Amino acid sequence: MNSHEKLLLENRAWASIQLERDPDYFNRLEHVQTPEFLWIGCSDSRVPANEITNTQPGEIFVHRNIANVVDHTDLNMMSVVQYAVEVLKVKHVIVCGHYGCGGVKAAMGNSSFGLIDNWLRNIKDTYWANRNELDWMTDPAARADRLTELNVIHGVQNLVKTSIIQNTWKNAQRPVLHGWVYRLSDGILHDLCKIEPGSNIEKIYRFE
Ligand code: CO
Repeated sequence: MNSHEKLLLENRAWASIQLERDPDYFNRLEHVQTPEFLWIGCSDSRVPANEITNTQPGEIFVHRNIANVVDHTDLNMMSVVQYAVEVLKVKHVIVCGHYGCGGVKAAMGNSSFGLIDNWLRNIKDTYWANRNELDWMTDPAARADRLTELNVIHGVQNLVKTSIIQNTWKNAQRPVLHGWVYRLSDGILHDLCKIEPGSNIEKIYRFE
């Protein structure tokens, strides 16, 4: 059997197990989607949002890209944010990075990997903006870990600068923005930063 055929078989097994546990399971999920959370994470196969938070289908609206970059010119991600915040009315937006991120490592190096180089430029720019802190770190692993954290924090700050978040904050006490980082070696999520609705916004980025 080919490996992709196993996926289809496993899907049948999964669906029947769900039905055995709860005959109304799919019926319920089919008719309503009310997730409280938007997750912006890395595409890395080892950081699946539902599994690591022990949540079920229906609980987290998910967007993933390489190295969980929040770029306001990314029409894909911005559409996800707009829909999640304005239509689904999520209460929390979580930007989640992870230590050992291949995208962050690649951004710190000088090798070219093709088109992805342009995407990772966002992280190079974050490095450059924080070079006074990062250049002093002698341990390359520690430096990569810190850049991973700064990339998440920068992503959360980028969300604040969007009209989507600012307009929603004016009318509702949501969403709260969170920056988290996940450690592959122990499976633990760490809280890096939190920005509440109504927080101060640098004047140049503020819409009135
Ligand atoms: Co990654």
